[in-house]
Amino acid sequence: MIYKRRSIRKYRRDKIPRNDILELIEAAKAAPSAKNRQPWKFIVFSGAEKEALLAIMEKGIDREVEIPMLPGSASGIEDAKNTLRIMREAPVTICVVDPDGYSPFEELNPDQRFTEINSTLSIGAAVENLILKATELGYGTLWIGNTCFAYQELLEELNVDGQLVCAIAVGIPAELPEARSRKPLDEIAEFRGD
Ligand SMILES: Cc1cc2nc3c(=O)[nH]c(=O)nc-3n(C[C@H](O)[C@H](O)[C@H](O)COP(=O)(O)O)c2cc1C
Repeated sequence: MIYKRRSIRKYRRDKIPRNDILELIEAAKAAPSAKNRQPWKFIVFSGAEKEALLAIMEKGIDREVEIPMLPGSASGIEDAKNTLRIMREAPVTICVVDPDGYSPFEELNPDQRFTEINSTLSIGAAVENLILKATELGYGTLWIGNTCFAYQELLEELNVDGQLVCAIAVGIPAELPEARSRKPLDEIAEFRGD
């Protein structure tokens, strides 16, 4: 499944059975995590609840244009709007929250920073498990970091403590993209010793 997975940006409208979503989360929770903290919560949106969440995301992106909280990332706003359009097409949005995570707008000391790195890595492992299981079940996914442009608005709407780390769009794919390019092995692998 590792080599079959693609980011999917076109979806059919078909609903996804709840048992399939549970199977995805079951795969996610099998991931390793630092100190086995399992620093994740998966909040699954579909139907009218998903539309409402995405309306809030749109408001947040519009606010970001007017009153930027991430002024250094303004060039990413158009991409965020495109991501939102894709999320509207996919029947399910899964929000991934670290319940003990810090706000990205908070200053961290080095201890907190390392804890955060480990939690983020753990969540990344869980999300990868989830999207590989989705690929195995015939679903397409899009891993979404563009939630950052509507960070406060989305967190408020989720009404949870912690950090919104990312979201995942899930649905039946309506496209089969070619594999996207990757850096060559000799650029990323370095051997020191035998
Ligand atoms: C942490 C993370 C955040 C991402 N955020 C977005 C996003 O907000 N919108 C989007 O269209 N793609 C997003 N992607 C998908 C990447 O663009 C994609 O993985 C990359 O271009 C490689 O393509 P592939 O997944 O088909 O191999 C994200 C991927 C990761 C891992």
